[in-house]
Amino acid sequence: MRILFVGDVFGRPGRTMVSEYVPKLRKKYKPQMTIINGENAASGKGITEKIYKGFLEAGAQVVTLGNHAWARREIFTFIDDAKKLVRPLNYPEGTPGQGVVSVNINGQEVVVINAMGRTFLMDIDDPFRAVKREVELAKKRTPFVFVDFHAEVTSEKQAMGWYLDGMASAVIGTHTHVQTADERILPGGTAYLSDVGMTGPYDGILGVDRELILDKFLTALPTRFEVADGRTQLSAVIIDLDDTTGKAKSIKRILINDDHPFYE
Ligand SMILES: [Fe+2]
Repeated sequence: MRILFVGDVFGRPGRTMVSEYVPKLRKKYKPQMTIINGENAASGKGITEKIYKGFLEAGAQVVTLGNHAWARREIFTFIDDAKKLVRPLNYPEGTPGQGVVSVNINGQEVVVINAMGRTFLMDIDDPFRAVKREVELAKKRTPFVFVDFHAEVTSEKQAMGWYLDGMASAVIGTHTHVQTADERILPGGTAYLSDVGMTGPYDGILGVDRELILDKFLTALPTRFEVADGRTQLSAVIIDLDDTTGKAKSIKRILINDDHPFYE
């Protein structure tokens, strides 16, 4: 089982990179499954129904979210019907949407869990026990369990990786928008990467127009964020899982930008 996971798609530049490169990546690497983190897909914050459906049309089987899941009020009108959309699991009981999605890939069930860290993010329910509970439930049915851990702090992400080692097939971090180079397979067979990185503007600051962010640092006044123009990038990871055990066999980072060109 090969999974392609595309990191935080940011605004229109990110969506353009998805439509241009996801087909090329699928052709080159032939993943059985594609997952996209779309929490920043609508103008840098949140997601719309049209964008969600566009990702499914681009070849994604599951779309994950994060702390910006609720940035667009429209989310509340479609999240309960969006069966392939997964928001952080550890929001309080009664939160719309679902934290776990199960899909059928060529007759095999793959469970995708989205969870959110609490350090420097909203202090919601404990992600560790919540995810573990769901992984244990999923493992009764299938060996393939993918976790997108949306968190700010590397230590919390590493902690989640080790906590789930040998239980989840992969624990991949999102949210910081900068790809880390620490991909590895933990001793128990869990593929791990602290952050997959962002898909969108290459010359902004985390995707936002850099002049606005610079201004914010220089003046300490509130600023309105706008998606940066110009050159773009795509950040992703490809994970190979053993077809019987669901344990990771390999993990490969993908970064496409002018400094890291893509070869077909
Ligand atoms: Fe985020």
